[in-house]
Amino acid sequence: MATENNSTLPLHVSIIMDGNGRWAKERGKERVYGHFEGVSSVRACVEASIETGVRYLSLFAFSEENWNRPGSEVTTLMGLMVKAMADEMDSLDKNGVRFVVLGNRERLDAALNETIDACMERTKDNDTLTLVIFLSYSGKWDILQAAKKLVLELKDDPECEAKLNDLTVSDFDKFLITSDIPDPDLIVRTSGEHRLSNYLLWQGAYSEFYFTETLWPDFRKDQFREALNSYAKRDRRYGKVK
Ligand code: IPE
Ligand code: IPE
Ligand code: MG
Repeated sequence: MATENNSTLPLHVSIIMDGNGRWAKERGKERVYGHFEGVSSVRACVEASIETGVRYLSLFAFSEENWNRPGSEVTTLMGLMVKAMADEMDSLDKNGVRFVVLGNRERLDAALNETIDACMERTKDNDTLTLVIFLSYSGKWDILQAAKKLVLELKDDPECEAKLNDLTVSDFDKFLITSDIPDPDLIVRTSGEHRLSNYLLWQGAYSEFYFTETLWPDFRKDQFREALNSYAKRDRRYGKVK
């Protein structure tokens, strides 16, 4: 959902949480140790979002490409998701957080899908902060699934051709998995990488970017506020002249 935001506070902050493996390696530990520690950074960013008035926080937790990692790391990560959701849900619910998972849910196992459904159902009426976890998500996958849904909707319609001719960008937006979520005002990537890695390709069209060397397990409230301070100084023009 594209909207122009001229406030100094982002409505939606999205974070590519990167650098867990390197953080663990630096300490002579297994990569998964970094993933475990990263959960505390998630908690800190949720709290900082609520404190600062950010209404949407989305986190890239697992990409479609991440399925190509060693099986043991994938299994540990999926187990960690279930555990983190179970551990955090009371506190998220109490703090008015609506919890949403977006991605290719068909690839997730039954136990994880059940946990996700239960957490989403439990928190669906909360409205202080919407926390979106992108899981088994990639931008190209999202655009492709949107195109498939569109074809299925129009294929037997006698007015198919006319409707396609009239189709606008905002009509297409409704088929994306993020249709209920405003486009991110700010995309943060940790760990010194300067790429999108197939994240929110469509939705990030006018996002501001903030890159930091900080590894995800070290990204806490102060770092989150620093990113917001940087955003507050940006001049968003949306192609216009100011
Ligand atoms: C981010 O940390 C977490 C996921 C992508 C699941 P990484 O696991 O990518 O850590 P690095 O980038 O290898 O250090
Ligand atoms: C991007 O991180 C995906 C997530 C943070 C979930 P990666 O570590 O997978 O990205 P690349 O491989 O360095 O591009
Ligand atoms: Mg990485």
